[in-house]
Amino acid sequence: MDPMKLQTRFIPFLALAILALLFAMWAGLLRLGWILPTFPNLALAHGPLMISGFLGVLIPLERAVAIRQKWMFAAPLAAGLGWVSLLFAPGFGAILMTVGSIVAFFILVVMARREPVIHTFTMAVGMLSWVLGNLLWISGFPIYQLVHWWICYLILTIGGERLELSRVLRPAPQQIRAFGILALALLAGTILSLFNANGGARLSGFAMLALSLWFLKNDLAARNIHHPIPLTRYIAYCLFAGFIWMGVGGALQLIYGATYAGPLYDAALHTVFVGFVMSMIFGHAPIIFPAILGAPIKFYPAFYAHLALLHFSLLLRVTGDLTNQVELRKFGGLLNEVAILTFLGMTVYSVLRGKR
Ligand code: HEM
Repeated sequence: MDPMKLQTRFIPFLALAILALLFAMWAGLLRLGWILPTFPNLALAHGPLMISGFLGVLIPLERAVAIRQKWMFAAPLAAGLGWVSLLFAPGFGAILMTVGSIVAFFILVVMARREPVIHTFTMAVGMLSWVLGNLLWISGFPIYQLVHWWICYLILTIGGERLELSRVLRPAPQQIRAFGILALALLAGTILSLFNANGGARLSGFAMLALSLWFLKNDLAARNIHHPIPLTRYIAYCLFAGFIWMGVGGALQLIYGATYAGPLYDAALHTVFVGFVMSMIFGHAPIIFPAILGAPIKFYPAFYAHLALLHFSLLLRVTGDLTNQVELRKFGGLLNEVAILTFLGMTVYSVLRGKR
C-alpha cells in the first residue's frame, strides 16, 4: 500500500481527535475557574470530549488502521461525529459516541477471536467498560458515578497493550496470573461502585495501586530506562512516570473512597487521566503516529521538556487540590495544557522532519 495515500486518508480522523482534545482543554480551563469565552454545553462536555471524543477517536482508529477492515472505521467516525454533535445536541451526540464505543468493542472481539490470549481479553474488557460507561451515561447516570467505567476502560486498554509489548520479557506464568487477578479486581471494583460507591472506589483504588507496582516491576519500561537508544529511553520514562501516577490515583481512591466534585475529585481523576493516560500518549505517540500516518518520527531531546512539564504541573495541581490552594490548582491545570500543546506542536514538527 502506498504510504503517501495512507497519510492523507487518515488525517481527517486524526484532526477530529485533536480538535476534540482542543475543545476538551478549553472546557477543562472553564471547569478550573478560568474566565474565558464559552457557549452552552461546553464546560459540561469536558469529560466526554476527552474520553469518548479525543481517545474515542484515537484508540479505535489505531486498531482500525492496524487490522484494515472498512467497517472498523465506523468506530472513530461515530465517536468523532458524536463529540461534534454533543456540543449542539447533547442527547444525540452521546448516542453517537455510544455507537462508536460498541463498534470499537467489536473490533476487539475480532482481535480476541484471532488471538485468544490474556492481553486481547484485557483490551476487550476495557472496551466493554467504555460501552457500559456510555450506556449508563445515556441512561442519565451522573458522570461521577460512572467515571469508574471510563477509568477501567483506559487502564485495561493501555494495560493490555503494555502486556502485549512486554511479552518479549517472557513474564513467569504466576506474574501473568497476578496481572489477570488485578485486572479482574479493577473490574469488580468498577461494578461494585454502582451499588456501593465507597467500597467500589476503594477496591478499584487497591487494584490500581497493585497494578502500578506490577507494571513498574514487569513492564519493558523498567528494562529500557537505561537503554542506549534515546527514543526507547524517552518512551520508558513516559511509561514509568505514568505507572507511578496510576499508583498515586489508586492510593487516593483507597484513602478517600468515592469523590463527587471539587479538589479531591479533580485529584483522583487527573492523576489517572493526565498522569497516567497523557504520559502514555506522550510515550506511544512516536509509535502510533508513524503507524497511522505512514511517516517515521524524528526524536529530539526537547521531547523531555513537555514530559517534564506535564508531570511537574500535575504535581502542582494535585498539591493545590490536596491543600485547598485554588490558585495552585488553576495554574497547575493551565500548565498541564501548555505541556499537551507543546507535545502536539513537537509531534507535528518531528513527523514533518522525519518524513524529510
Ligand atoms: C489537560 C488538562 C485538564 C484540565 C485543566 C482538566 C480539568 C478538569 C476539571 C476542573 C474537572 C472538574 C473537577 C471538579 O469537579 O472539580 C475535570 C473533570 C473531568 N476530567 Fe478533566 N481536565 C484535564 C484533562 C483531562 C483528561 C486528559 C481527561 C481524560 C483523559 C479528563 C477527564 C475528565 C473527566 C472524565 C472529568 C469528570 C467530568 C464530570 O464530572 O463532569 N480530564 N477536568
